Amino acid sequence: MNSLLSMNDLSKDDIIRLIRRALEMKAGNYRPLAERKYVANLFFEPSTRTKASFEMAEKHLGITSLPFDVDHSSVTKGESLYDTCRTMEAIGCDALVIRHGVTAYYDEMEGLGIPIINGGDGSGSHPTQSLLDLMTIYDRFGRFEGLKVVIAGDISHSRVARSNQQALAKLGADVRFSAPEAWQDESIEVPYVSLDDVVEDADVIMLLRVQHERHGNEMDFTKTAYHNGYGMTLKRYQRMKADAIIMHPAPVNRDVEIDGRLIEAPRSVIFEQMNNGVFMRMSVLQEILGSEQ
Ligand code: CP
Repeated sequence: MNSLLSMNDLSKDDIIRLIRRALEMKAGNYRPLAERKYVANLFFEPSTRTKASFEMAEKHLGITSLPFDVDHSSVTKGESLYDTCRTMEAIGCDALVIRHGVTAYYDEMEGLGIPIINGGDGSGSHPTQSLLDLMTIYDRFGRFEGLKVVIAGDISHSRVARSNQQALAKLGADVRFSAPEAWQDESIEVPYVSLDDVVEDADVIMLLRVQHERHGNEMDFTKTAYHNGYGMTLKRYQRMKADAIIMHPAPVNRDVEIDGRLIEAPRSVIFEQMNNGVFMRMSVLQEILGSEQ
């Protein structure tokens, strides 16, 4: 694997190999990379989990992370993303982790000679989030084939929904969406369902964050109406199968996508997803920068 830009870059075998290595790493079976490597984490949009877990993953593998603060960089003087990335390559970085608000920003990076790991592009893709989600599902169920997965919420603005739908369909899961009409995406061929109709049958209910920062005035939004229509309420929780799980990429809007009392309920794996994110990002870094373990 050279760069990781979207889940379309990965075959079924690639996904399973990355998951198995991440689970091995979670069990403590890893060593620092044999050669010294340098990575710059370029975050042009806010992040807590993705940025911090890449930094943690880099520390575990003995990779030196270069600090980069957009607001105190020459981006404020108008330097382009491409020139910023070429600069990082010129000073000796071996790979870049990039989050940027422009969908498919990486299309402008053809002259770059080092790998990019996409930490999220606009409403496009978030491949390492998808991989950590898949790792969490695989760790619970040991398979993808035949699993009933419902992805609920702000589908049209969500890079997580797009990445997970691509990957889960490839892996044989039965994926459904549930969303208000204004946030449906007709370019993705997935059936839309009512959460109440599928809650008893679903193995995985994946809730998406309402992305207020990407909205115009496309729909009248009230927290209560959204929660009652598309959120994980206490009533819906009580109707779930005993071994079903609730996922959310976080950050969570408490009492909107999920009742705040359920975030750490037994069927919620939200913090497990975050923990798995460190090991999945180690697995990706190992694949791109390391020799086989
Ligand atoms: N899930 C996720 O990408 O979180 P951050 O925006 O905090 O990185």
